[in-house]
Amino acid sequence: MDNVTVFTHPLVQHKISMLRDINTGCKEFRELIEEVAMLMAYDALSDLPLEEVEITTPITSTTASVLSGKKMAIVPILRAGLGMVNGILALVPSAKVGHIGLYRDHVTLEAQNYYCKLPDDIENRKVIILDPMLATGNSAVAAANMLKEAGCTSIKFMCIIAAPEGIKHFTNIHPDVQLYCACIDEKLNENGYIVPGLGDAGDRIFGTK
Ligand code: URA
Repeated sequence: MDNVTVFTHPLVQHKISMLRDINTGCKEFRELIEEVAMLMAYDALSDLPLEEVEITTPITSTTASVLSGKKMAIVPILRAGLGMVNGILALVPSAKVGHIGLYRDHVTLEAQNYYCKLPDDIENRKVIILDPMLATGNSAVAAANMLKEAGCTSIKFMCIIAAPEGIKHFTNIHPDVQLYCACIDEKLNENGYIVPGLGDAGDRIFGTK
């Protein structure tokens, strides 16, 4: 699948095994999510365009490469997506941050929207949607729908662990959105959790439950 990129880097895989471990505590889990997000973003943003500008070093004048083109926005899906924000801001500190609040109806597993606050100029930005877990894909699809309705034309979706069901659902509806993940797990269980997964990412990031 051309529109799905899986990061197989050993550093990322090692950190994901630590994330999966039930004995990994809240502080370490939060740090690992941030680190994995940063490592993934480093690669996912390798297509950012550059332009040449004139600068003066302490030695001489020269041309140097700087980022050009559209500015960026990152949009975490609340609440687990928040865990990935700082990792990406460490690489792209000028990115604006929008927020989309979606919760899963526990019976239908459908995404329900309860919050949306996006930068005013979101349609002119390259957008990365963040959610560590792509399970059914319903939240990811809903978030991409909302961003397209807001006028966005350049959207990527970044998760850490994806279920095959979620990938299929998301890529069917949004074939134009490049999907980045670091692991494709086996399946969803009857409660919509990814197997083997890492449990509830939001609870493990924020120490709830
Ligand atoms: N969300 C999570 O946090 N974990 C899962 O396994 C699925 C959805």
